[in-house]
Amino acid sequence: MKLYNPGIKSGSAMSYAGLIEKIEILRSTLRWASRLERPEIEKLLRQTGALRDEVMQLSHKERFVQAATAEPIEIELSASARRQALLERSFAFEGTFGDNPKLLDALEIAEKAAPTDLPVLIDGESGTGKELMAKVIHANGARADMPYISVNCGAIPDSLIESELFGHKKGAFTGAANDRKGKFESAHKGTIFLDEIGELPLTGQVKLLRVLQSHEIQRVGSDEAISVDARIVAATNKNLRRLSEEGRFREDLFYRLSVIHVTLPPLRERRDEIPLLVQYFGDEAAEALKRRPIKMTPRLRDFLLNYAYPGNIRELRNLIYRISCLAGEVADLGHLPEDIRPRPTLPATPDGAAVGNGMTIPVSLSDAKRAASDEAERAFLERGLQEVGGTVAELARRCDMNRSHLQMLLKKHGIHSKDFRKQAATQGGKGG
Ligand SMILES: Nc1ncnc2c1ncn2[C@@H]1O[C@H](COP(=O)(O)OP(=O)(O)O)[C@@H](O)[C@H]1O
Ligand SMILES: [Mg+2]
Repeated sequence: MKLYNPGIKSGSAMSYAGLIEKIEILRSTLRWASRLERPEIEKLLRQTGALRDEVMQLSHKERFVQAATAEPIEIELSASARRQALLERSFAFEGTFGDNPKLLDALEIAEKAAPTDLPVLIDGESGTGKELMAKVIHANGARADMPYISVNCGAIPDSLIESELFGHKKGAFTGAANDRKGKFESAHKGTIFLDEIGELPLTGQVKLLRVLQSHEIQRVGSDEAISVDARIVAATNKNLRRLSEEGRFREDLFYRLSVIHVTLPPLRERRDEIPLLVQYFGDEAAEALKRRPIKMTPRLRDFLLNYAYPGNIRELRNLIYRISCLAGEVADLGHLPEDIRPRPTLPATPDGAAVGNGMTIPVSLSDAKRAASDEAERAFLERGLQEVGGTVAELARRCDMNRSHLQMLLKKHGIHSKDFRKQAATQGGKGG
């Protein structure tokens, strides 16, 4: 087998990269070869491995020579300059982004990949913006006016996935009452987004690989080849390389899909973006809910800036929408979902002011005063409701307060009078 002619004058690091990609595809194809005997496969794998190392070395050497002889014109840009440059190049991004270097890396790769037809693989934890990124790549490419079709490979039962992707012929299986077009055909000339690609069963992977190679599909139950021209963007929250090592994802498909590989960092690795996102979603929620942007108590802001966000940007977005919907003018910790709400760890001081919940460090005197007053108000309301067994009208009467004003204060603190009614009922039941 003649794989590589060392006599080729390839001349540039780019063509080396192309060669390495070809070798990788060859290596993975060999791994899955069923016609050859095992020793033969292993020998070929060793040969291609050695070849790859040789090409790598040549490529490194060449790049080294190029770098040594090149004029030193490219200076390292600062993060803010990189951000500014992206904006100035009219890079269309639906969301927001700051100066985080990892995110800037991802955006710059996406920007370069967008105008090409190369497949892109986006990975990152759930909620890091993979789907948003796929749309950005589509919107910044030459296919922006053509269809963008999204398929969630994890949400379709294994038995239906091929029909979903490639369509089917009438009668191909029970339930196939009519001819049906699949997502690939719908995405013709446009982009198909294959979300959760790691969930695609092996049989589907084989078919997808064939489509990538031939640019043709066959509807389930038909032998007619239909040519499709769809740009592929795939996403996963799994480590596909590891899955392919474990034999759960075809390695050759992995290499095909990940010609361009974009990784979105989890929010905890780009905490510097949190204030920006809080502001962004605050404005977005205000617009969606037709209200003024929510104000936050310092301790809530503090919480939001320090929270770990296991659900990443999706969780942050949902929190801000929730807070914006539940709170009146000012949102506080009480508007957070119960399961993440920090519990005060220290009792209030004798004058009723808060001494903190272990995480609030007010930054200025006025913030400290506001936080203390908020906390006093809250403690007063809770104690009052406890005393009257959760009856708001009674509390209003006892404190000589307007009932609707009292309701508003309860809402501001996220206090539910019914919780106190329940408490009173259970205590009444127990104590007699
Ligand atoms: N940089 C960003 N700016 C604004 N919104 C974002 C950003 N990244 C993600 N989002 C939003 O966060 C939510 C989750 O993003 P999504 O793309 O669905 O994540 P994934 O596909 O990785 O689970 C979506 O509402 C998305 O619009
Ligand atoms: Mg998603």
